[in-house]
Amino acid sequence: MTIIAPSLLSADFAHIAEQIACVQDAGAEYLHLDVMDGRFVPNITWGPKIIGDLRKLSPLIFDAHLMIEEPDRYVNDFREAGCDRITFHLEATPHAQRLLVHIRSLGAKAGVALCPQTPVAMLQDIIEDCDTVLVMSVNPGFSGQKFIPRAIEKVREARALVDRRNPTCLIEVDGGVGAENARELVAAGADALVMGAAVFGAADPAKELRRIRALIA
Ligand code: DX5
Ligand code: ZN
Repeated sequence: MTIIAPSLLSADFAHIAEQIACVQDAGAEYLHLDVMDGRFVPNITWGPKIIGDLRKLSPLIFDAHLMIEEPDRYVNDFREAGCDRITFHLEATPHAQRLLVHIRSLGAKAGVALCPQTPVAMLQDIIEDCDTVLVMSVNPGFSGQKFIPRAIEKVREARALVDRRNPTCLIEVDGGVGAENARELVAAGADALVMGAAVFGAADPAKELRRIRALIA
């Protein structure tokens, strides 16, 4: 079954407990937590303190997406804050292989994210060390951006690589995902769909999440 990972970037933090409860009750498997540093991406969100506080609100799998420079300096803190899956950008470090091994040694699932400019072929020598390949279907930094269609072919390429070399690795897609493209992404081989605006921007997030779940069932 496809994993649905609502992104809290689009949630209302004045009512965050209700927002989390709402997607949890609607059957979301992950909470996707976008960490931005204002350097790797032109936006700033939150760090380990906030994630640690959110941890008290939900037993869902915390899926951290680090859009930060020097991710190696911070992964221990995010693990301690309660992140179950930690995904960093391949473009943010020359030592991705070492960092993947380190994240696993902390007891978390290790992932690599690819910006739209980065080909799937860049994973050739590290795919066995990955628990997640996150295909970005927008340029990271903001929710509510337009889906870049090339991502569908990248999901297919990632699927082929993963099936051949590391079948338990998840393929996650992030950016501009919603009712319009969810089916096509699942057909292309996506295991997990990140959704920000599509879910939290809807008048009734729980209803929209269930509707999308039905579309891809
Ligand atoms: C964008 C983030 C996404 C974002 C997705 O840089 O990585 O997780 O929240 O939001 P939507 O689904 O609105 O594109
Ligand atoms: Zn994300």
